[in-house]
Amino acid sequence: MKITIALRPALLALALLVPLGAAAQETDPETGLVKAEGWQVVKANCTVCHSAKLVTQNSGSRNHWQYLIRWMQDTQGLWQFRPEMEATILDYLAEHYGPKAGARRAPLPPDQLPPNPYKQADSSG
Ligand code: HEC
Repeated sequence: MKITIALRPALLALALLVPLGAAAQETDPETGLVKAEGWQVVKANCTVCHSAKLVTQNSGSRNHWQYLIRWMQDTQGLWQFRPEMEATILDYLAEHYGPKAGARRAPLPPDQLPPNPYKQADSSG
C-alpha cells in the first residue's frame, strides 16, 4: 500500500514528461536558437554583431560553418575561440543547422517559363 502511494507521483511525473520529450525541439524565445547542447555558447558569441536570425536562417555542413567563422575572424573582427569552444559551436551548428536536402527550388516545367532568348539565337545561327 505504501509503495503504491509513493509511486503515484513518480508515474504522474513520467506521464507528463513523455509527451514533452516527444514534442518538437524547444527553442529560445529570445533568439530562436534550438535549445540543445552548446546553444548558450552560440547565443553568447554569435548574436553580438548581428541578429541570431542570420545564424538560424543559414545552414550548412560543419566545414561550411567553419569557413564562415574563419571569414568573420579574418574580415569582420570575430574573436578567436579556444579549440574546445569552437568544436562545441561547430558541433551545435552542424547538428541543428546542417545542410538542407530540399532547400533548392525544383526547376519549373518549360511551359511555365518565358521563352529562352538564347535558344532562339542558337537556332537562327
Ligand atoms: C565580431 C562580429 C561578429 C560576430 C561575433 C559574429 N559574426 Fe557572423 N557576421 C558578421 C558580419 C559583419 C557579417 C556580415 C553581415 C551581413 O551579412 O549582414 C556576418 C555574417 C554572418 C552570416 C551570414 C553569412 C552569409 O553567407 O551571408 C552567418 C551565417 C554568421 N555571420 C554566423 C555567425 C556565427 C555562427 C557566429 C558565432 C560563431 C557569428 N556569426 C558571430 C560579424 C560577426
